[in-house]
Amino acid sequence: MKFSQLKDDYVHTLLGKYFRDFSFSRLSGGESAAELYKVRTEYNRSYILKRQKQSLESEYLNYKWLQNKVPVPEIIFYTHGDGQDFLCITEVQGKSLDLFIGSVEADVIVSSYARALKLLHSQKPDNKAIVCDLDKRISEAERNVKNNLVNSSHFQSENQQYEPYELFLQLKRSKPSSAELVFTHGDYCLDNLIYNEGKLSGFVDLGNGGVADKYQDLALAVRSILDNFTLDHVELFYREYGLQNIDKSKLEFYTLLDEFF
Ligand SMILES: Nc1ncnc2c1ncn2[C@@H]1O[C@H](COP(=O)(O)OP(=O)(O)OP(=O)(O)O)[C@@H](O)[C@H]1O
Ligand SMILES: [Mg+2]
Repeated sequence: MKFSQLKDDYVHTLLGKYFRDFSFSRLSGGESAAELYKVRTEYNRSYILKRQKQSLESEYLNYKWLQNKVPVPEIIFYTHGDGQDFLCITEVQGKSLDLFIGSVEADVIVSSYARALKLLHSQKPDNKAIVCDLDKRISEAERNVKNNLVNSSHFQSENQQYEPYELFLQLKRSKPSSAELVFTHGDYCLDNLIYNEGKLSGFVDLGNGGVADKYQDLALAVRSILDNFTLDHVELFYREYGLQNIDKSKLEFYTLLDEFF
């Protein structure tokens, strides 16, 4: 019996505790450590089950905090077993924003991307919201470098000339001295927003989110726009979000930080 079969057997048993009639299939995933399954139950309801070795607790807590505030999937269960964390959420309808490139005008995509971030950042944090610790994140970046988990061939082209540790030293030197705290997404890439019929149906992949500097999200948004569109679209994004004075050094710092994850 294959190892993947054993893992699927575990998933089957786990799902049986929560659902009566169901079927599930593995979704071909991205580069991350997570494995995703799509679960279908009676009345054609569908869910996403995410499993990974690393904790999914912050993702769970962020979804919980955002319920009834902004569009996010509902939580079905969060549990631990077989040396893994499991988070089961409802599948939201639609497609991720990157999949509209080519069929929807770039201006429309970028404006939606900006307005969704404005909505998220306008949620007033309270004492139940997770607070992200930047020093801890920098230590994690260092740990990833030391454990050879950072691959310089994945760096942005301007960083390709550096060794991971050299780049890490640059990161440490450029740590911002102040923060404009808001509730952030944490990985604000186009594929982590789901849209249906022109409307935002859900933010997903919130494991790195919580109260942090707004530039955490702005930096990844600007990077995604430059990867897919033009500099003019970055200007459009700033206008729609409502950002006048751009702190370039913070944009650079948070883009650099992402190279280590
Ligand atoms: N609740 C959901 N409803 C609909 N689609 C979802 C849902 N959760 C995840 N997805 C889809 O699955 C993709 C991967 O999910 P997610 O981003 O949570 O996993 P990940 O392993 O962190 O992925 P990656 O490393 O590729 O960002 C998302 O980009 C989204 O398209
Ligand atoms: Mg994702």
